[in-house]
Amino acid sequence: MTVMIELRRSYTPVEELPQSGDHMHSRNNGHNELNVREIRKHFFFRKDRRTVTNNAATTQVPYDLLRLHASLAKRYENVHRGQSKPSQEITALLEESYQTVADFLNAPSIRNLVFYRNTTEAINSVMYALLTEFRNGDNIVTTMMEHNSNYVPWYAMCRDILPRFGVNVECRIVSFDQESGELDLDHMDRLIDSRTKLVCCTGASNFLGYKSPISLIRELSRGSGYSQPNGASGSYLLIDGAQLVPSTPVDVQQMNVDFLAFSFHKMLAPFGTGVLYAREELLDSLPPFLYGGDMIAEGQVHPESVSYNKLPWKYTAGTPNILGNIVSAQALRLILDFALRPDRGSYFRSDKKIDKIAVKLAMGKVNSYLQWLTQEAMIRMVKIPGIKIYGPVEVEKRAPLISFNINGINPITLANKLAERGVEVRAGCHCATLAHHYLGLDPPASCRLSFYIYNDIEDVERAVDAVKCVALPIRQRTLFSYLKNYEHKLRGIRRII
Ligand code: ALA
Repeated sequence: MTVMIELRRSYTPVEELPQSGDHMHSRNNGHNELNVREIRKHFFFRKDRRTVTNNAATTQVPYDLLRLHASLAKRYENVHRGQSKPSQEITALLEESYQTVADFLNAPSIRNLVFYRNTTEAINSVMYALLTEFRNGDNIVTTMMEHNSNYVPWYAMCRDILPRFGVNVECRIVSFDQESGELDLDHMDRLIDSRTKLVCCTGASNFLGYKSPISLIRELSRGSGYSQPNGASGSYLLIDGAQLVPSTPVDVQQMNVDFLAFSFHKMLAPFGTGVLYAREELLDSLPPFLYGGDMIAEGQVHPESVSYNKLPWKYTAGTPNILGNIVSAQALRLILDFALRPDRGSYFRSDKKIDKIAVKLAMGKVNSYLQWLTQEAMIRMVKIPGIKIYGPVEVEKRAPLISFNINGINPITLANKLAERGVEVRAGCHCATLAHHYLGLDPPASCRLSFYIYNDIEDVERAVDAVKCVALPIRQRTLFSYLKNYEHKLRGIRRII
């Protein structure tokens, strides 16, 4: 049953909001264009003149998705748990969401997917699923640049959970080059051995920005010689895609990883949903993370035996986040429209099949645009006195985020001062605590600017100017502020005439 019903509606770019605060000309370098001016019309923040540059933490939600969410109230019902028309319709919509996500990732099937609350929950689910498979003397290899969500579960498993069952598993940590911020692949090669059951690595660091060379890491993990219980040889590979999937074309078949986790709230959707992609034979054979209703085969619960449901429903114990999952899948369709045709999209709220060429093209444009913005920011930031930028110099190796410190200024103070100037950033350790300690940062913190598809070059300039202003000694700061205000006013006048 296909229920695009009232979801299927011609694509109209939202309320007619006043144009003030809009950048009439989104300057771009010409060959990697996104129509940012058009994209910005879909968001609240432009009305409030916010400089939204904390996108690695969460992206802004467009009107379109909030409207969609509200429209779902018309058929508000549970899925797989009712015979009414609304229940049938919402069930069909949820099932179509699985297909949208599968197509976006080029996953072979919806049987490869599990919806969770976020990346963290998805990674924890893998930990619990694999828990009983670890053998005494096994090890797990992770890295020093992981978000805590891809380190703490493995630490807890090795140090806290498995020892209670008398099983000892070592958690090994790959270092990175302190200057370039790149993973030390030789170190990784040395740490992976024939007792490495799993390699867990970020796809892109949320602190250093560094994008991991996944194909090389896959080669190292596949070649470990570990003997998995199902007879396969090699270590499993889990990629934390939280900072990778929102800005990069990802084809899971090409990537050939065993597990990939990411969150939708970093790619326009509201909070509360994430996805685990996994190879079908693994989801088929591993025990589920949660047990209960809907994850059992119809009627197959007896005192002596329980049979689980077929994939992907084996992993949907309890009522899922139905509206969240539907809206999240539609966020992917919206991103395709924003990248390909923001003035007249064709994917959002339609049942148009998503093919991998369209995804590659759209996400290629997103990637290229965000690299350009990041480069423009880096070019300006390196000139700021006393600045230290972490991670690779080459933007091709980076996710669209820049973490930095300024000599003599506490990063939290810096972020507060930027906030006073309307520039939204994140300061702290970004949950990349290991990496901050590894770099000897005291306090273990940095300030981070991060971009998404609605940011334009004026956002970059405003953010960098604000950083520059805060970094300057107090007397120069006043003069700088005065000159910048003057420049912004002139720009405004030029726009009008
Ligand atoms: N992991 C998110 C961040 O990097 C929350 O800010």
